Order: sequence, then C-alpha cells, then structure tokens
Amino acid sequence: MPKLNFYTDINDVANEAKRDLIDRHSPFIHCDDHAKKGEPFDVRVQVGNEYLHPDDTDHYVSTVTLYNGQTKLAEATFFAGANGGQGNKAQTSVTFRVILEKNSKLIANAYCTKHGLWEGPVKDIQVA
Ligand SMILES: [Fe+2]
Repeated sequence: MPKLNFYTDINDVANEAKRDLIDRHSPFIHCDDHAKKGEPFDVRVQVGNEYLHPDDTDHYVSTVTLYNGQTKLAEATFFAGANGGQGNKAQTSVTFRVILEKNSKLIANAYCTKHGLWEGPVKDIQVA
C-alpha cells in the first residue's frame, strides 16, 4: 500500500518546491455544491491547480478515483503519454457522471507512479 498524502493549503507552505509537489499531485473536485436526488451529476476532478505534473514514461498520474465517503464511485486510468508524453507536463482531468441519493462527501485520490497516492480537499454536496 503506497503512502497516502493529504492536501494541505499551499498558501501555508513557504518552500516553493514543496508547494509544487503538493499542488501538482492533489486532485481537486470541481462541481456544483448542490445536486438533485437521483439525477445525473457531473463531477470533474483535476490533478493540480496551479502546477503541472510530468507525463514521462516512468513518472505520470495513472489513476484518478472518486469516493463518496468510504464508497468508491468511479475511477479513471491513464497511461503514460495520455497527457502530452515524455518531457511534457499537464493537469490530468476527468469528468465523472454519478447519481447521488443523499447528501454526499466527495473525496478524490490521484496516484502518481513515482510519488504515490494523494488525497485532495473534501467537497460536501447537498442533495435534494
Ligand atoms: Fe509525481
């Protein structure tokens, strides 16, 4: 089991290299704060907000996973080269369409083949 790294607000981190490391590995959830019960709801997860992650053969973001609490909702797999390839950098992004039945706590993980598993900020969704 890889080490699980948790997002910390990079505004509180003075070291530039550490800010880059944290941000470029963290999956950020982008969606509405409210969802309609039983209806399709789009949730975009983007790895990195201000910084870009490499897409090298031996170092890339390979999976993005979306949870509701402890329940896995969806997972996307990427292969090296899907986000620009060797020598290029990008913010891996995927949109999941899910259906929520009650208030939800969305959490995303991203796995980097070199730097392990990263968990982004939690997003609470009001469902009615
Ligand atoms: Fe990495």
